[in-house]
Amino acid sequence: MKKGVFITFEGAEGSGKSTQIRNAASFFRHQKRQVVLLREPGGTRISEAIRSVLLDRGNRGMSHVTELLLYLSARAQIVHEKILPALRSGKVVICDRFEDSTLAYQGYGRGIPLPLIREVSRLVRGTLRPDLTFVLDIDIKKGLSRGGRHDRIEREAFSFHQKVRRGFLALARKEPRRVIVVDSGQPLPEVSRRVLEKLQNVFGE
Ligand SMILES: Nc1ncnc2c1ncn2[C@@H]1O[C@H](COP(=O)(O)OP(=O)(O)OP(=O)(O)O)[C@@H](O)[C@H]1O
Ligand SMILES: [Mg+2]
Repeated sequence: MKKGVFITFEGAEGSGKSTQIRNAASFFRHQKRQVVLLREPGGTRISEAIRSVLLDRGNRGMSHVTELLLYLSARAQIVHEKILPALRSGKVVICDRFEDSTLAYQGYGRGIPLPLIREVSRLVRGTLRPDLTFVLDIDIKKGLSRGGRHDRIEREAFSFHQKVRRGFLALARKEPRRVIVVDSGQPLPEVSRRVLEKLQNVFGE
């Protein structure tokens, strides 16, 4: 049996994550590999319940620490219940958001110290790290205008989204081998081509 592969897609709302995840999934399905698609926060019964608390527009009073811990709780469950078992059985796991989103939104965006987040995060994911991460980088206004109804996080100020965007780019600079930035403001065929090219380089047969 082939070794499991763990890929994550990161980036702002409306940056094209769902679209490129479908693109990546078909790349691996062509290789006859079993693909598991997951989204964060969510993907398990417990994590989806946490997701609805996080995104509920009625929860405007949520403290930044509460928010961080809820995201991490949702992740702890999906890692345990879905991601690790799938990787152990040799599947390709593609996740819509993972740890980099927490560092970008709660770290760079909310201002919680990154070393603290990384520390608690280690408890959540153990030694699990993505084999490859795509950051889909998009102009904030363009990204938000692609989305539909805005949830609690999407309704944050422009300056918050700007910090998050810069955060993703800073994270990519720190780990250039794992994290690939793709300019998602380009026409869709070009974005898809860039993603497939990288997948082909790393996972091509
Ligand atoms: N490169 C592109 N150029 C133009 N439109 C795009 C591009 N990529 C995706 N889109 C369109 O933008 C919208 C948002 O894309 P998508 O749902 O993939 O983003 P997302 O990052 O998953 O968003 P969300 O955070 O809301 O889940 C969709 O209607 C999609 O068809
Ligand atoms: Mg999406």
